[in-house]
Amino acid sequence: MLILGIETSCDETGVALYDSARGLLAHALHSQVILHAEYGGVVPELASRDHIRKTLPLLRKIFRQADVEPSDIEGVAYTRGPGLIGALLVGATIGRSLAWTWNVPAIGVHHMEGHLLAPMLEAEPPEFPFVALLVSGGHSLLVRVDQVGGYQILGESVDDAAGEAFDKTAKLLGLSYPGGPALARLAEAGTPGRFQFPRPMTDRPGCNFSFSGLKTAAINAWRKLEPTPENRADIARAFEEAVVETLAIKCRRALQATGLKRLVVAGGVGANRRLRIRLLELAEERGGRVYYPRLEFCTDNGAMIAYAGWRRLAAGQMESAAIEVLPRWPLDHLPAVG
Ligand code: KG4
Ligand code: ZN
Repeated sequence: MLILGIETSCDETGVALYDSARGLLAHALHSQVILHAEYGGVVPELASRDHIRKTLPLLRKIFRQADVEPSDIEGVAYTRGPGLIGALLVGATIGRSLAWTWNVPAIGVHHMEGHLLAPMLEAEPPEFPFVALLVSGGHSLLVRVDQVGGYQILGESVDDAAGEAFDKTAKLLGLSYPGGPALARLAEAGTPGRFQFPRPMTDRPGCNFSFSGLKTAAINAWRKLEPTPENRADIARAFEEAVVETLAIKCRRALQATGLKRLVVAGGVGANRRLRIRLLELAEERGGRVYYPRLEFCTDNGAMIAYAGWRRLAAGQMESAAIEVLPRWPLDHLPAVG
């Protein structure tokens, strides 16, 4: 089954062609980073307008790359939520309209389900069941995954998402948007152990997260220092270490609580090098295994949406001709497949 996937939930336009027999045929991404940089964060209206400009040219590009004709497409998947409503509406309207024109089924995909299933695009995909750590700009979740759509939330952030904490801390340290990768780069030059920030909520049971206090601790420490590059890098290093260690502690708990050995890590923060190394160690300690999407599929992309859409379309699920998006959409409200 050949599926066209479209992702427009935030500040990246991602499109992909996924074939269930041949795998990923082509994918393309346009990042809006430069567009939003001068505002220090995503401006929703600019995001929507840019998705309108970029989606069709990107689609033409991947059809050419994969040597695919519109008549070959057997289903269209687009991100239905969660995300920015205007941005979502662009992908949903284009996706739904193309499906209508081509007379094929369409499916609205949950963005976090897309992230969660992204490791399935790799050569050695994880088998169900597994524990998934989903850490993006909007969400921090630990989920028990028994099947596509069989999600039990084990823990989530009670305040900022992990990526949001990276972005806000980076901004306060004077780094430009998007702060997460910039802070991680800066942390490489930092001295480990010079500052010690709290590992929030690790002193009480459960798998919930809280990152806003950690951000405050980092900023308070930074404000007491001379604003030298060394001090800034040391603060970045301590902040990153605290986030990574907190996530590792919660992953260990989730694996213990479920008795599972497989850990999937996805979402933008899953691109963090130190987090990847730490969770690999954790999985090895426990005789288990950790699965990541390739780096470019940790952050937003169309390939994960095409794949997740295929899983649902292949199971017979599809949308009516109405176009509906859900800016808020709890992951455990999805119907199960199978
Ligand atoms: O999944 P994603 O691309 O978009 C959302 O669905 O939110 O995640 C973006 C988030 C941003 O907060 C970004 O700063 C963070 O992921 N991020 C990172 C790294 N790369 C992206 N955070 C820490 N280290 C990184 N290397
Ligand atoms: Zn995302």
